[in-house]
Amino acid sequence: MTNYDALLQQYQEFKARHLSLNMERGQPADANFDLSLPILNAVNETNYTTDSGVDIRNYPGGILGLVEAREIFCEQLNVEADEIILGNNSSLSMMAQFLTWALLRGVKNSGHGWVNDNPKLIVTVPGYDRHFLLAQELGFDLVPVQMTENGPDMNAIEALVANDASIKGIYFVPTYSNPTGDTISQACAERLVSVNAAAPDFTIFADDAYSVHHLENDPAIAPNLLQIAKSSGNQDRVILFGSTSKVTFASAGIGLAGMATDNIKYWSKALSTQSIGPNKAEQWRHVLFLRNYPNGLTGLMQEHAKILKPKFDKVQEVLNRELGNLNIASWTNPRGGYFVSLDTTAPIASRVVELAKEAGLALTQTGATFPNGVDPANRNIRLAPTRPSVEEVETAMEIVACCIKLASAEANNS
Ligand SMILES: Cc1ncc(COP(=O)(O)O)c(C=O)c1O
Repeated sequence: MTNYDALLQQYQEFKARHLSLNMERGQPADANFDLSLPILNAVNETNYTTDSGVDIRNYPGGILGLVEAREIFCEQLNVEADEIILGNNSSLSMMAQFLTWALLRGVKNSGHGWVNDNPKLIVTVPGYDRHFLLAQELGFDLVPVQMTENGPDMNAIEALVANDASIKGIYFVPTYSNPTGDTISQACAERLVSVNAAAPDFTIFADDAYSVHHLENDPAIAPNLLQIAKSSGNQDRVILFGSTSKVTFASAGIGLAGMATDNIKYWSKALSTQSIGPNKAEQWRHVLFLRNYPNGLTGLMQEHAKILKPKFDKVQEVLNRELGNLNIASWTNPRGGYFVSLDTTAPIASRVVELAKEAGLALTQTGATFPNGVDPANRNIRLAPTRPSVEEVETAMEIVACCIKLASAEANNS
């Protein structure tokens, strides 16, 4: 039997199992959600008034969020308690609010909305499909820049923004990036916050969705973008986002936006035109739950890591075992976040995803990690191992490896 025939036989064996596996989207597992079940009983008819005297049933409470909640969640974005705005259930919807306002009215120092300036945003690739979709649907042109292991490619960014005032900012994930898992380095963060941009209101929209989502016990400390920006006098440039979607319940918690206090003033005015205030009941039950959790937010994230780490380890184990020395694929080994990014050596990513689908494994659509859903090199595959069980991750990765070998052999034979 030739090597190719043996691969085909292995592939047919997977198909014969009629599997239904899914590594498409980065969702927490039920075991992760279970950690936060007490939140459902945290607020009841006896404790609806906060320590500072806010009755969560009534309007007063402020646009910025409960002080008790701001004190807890500022830690997640690594900012001070007076540098955070708490929103409703989704960071993505907060980003949509901020980007929309920027288009219509501008950011703090714009003086006018960006909409008539042919606005462009730099995005990092491979990156997050929902960032691309949101920004494009709002009317931004996207300028893709490579995400490197040290963060966005600063050489490319410096060259792009120096003479083009229509590039209004950058939209990216600074910590454990989706999908590569890369974190911006201190040097890269320093260059980014001080970049010499033609646009006077160049803004860094940093979606820090995975800021506390470490897989290891002694995580590397990510650079503090806002602090670095403050030290160089560029504090107006940085707006951080995050949420509790992968801390407590997905799309059922609190959105976060972190920024310097002058920006807080600007944006709270903008937000006040749209709402009397965010959902205080949600914030208060998060406060009561996290106060009671052993070692608070840090303790909770450590429990999440215990569930997630074996899955990420399994991805590495199977890929190393099956593809280790073959030179047909390379992949990242993140220390946190929700994804692993794999690049095939040949332009066969779409074929791999197609083969996997036929074998009962749904993977993220190829191209999703690039604007317009098109990966120009057809090489990138996003792996999302968080939701399936460790056993399912093992089988899924064996299928991925088999499909890569098969598609590589097909490419060689053609
Ligand atoms: C980078 C990134 N930002 C935002 C989100 C969604 O966040 P939210 O649930 O707060 O809207 C995700 C979800 O996968 C993500 O990966």
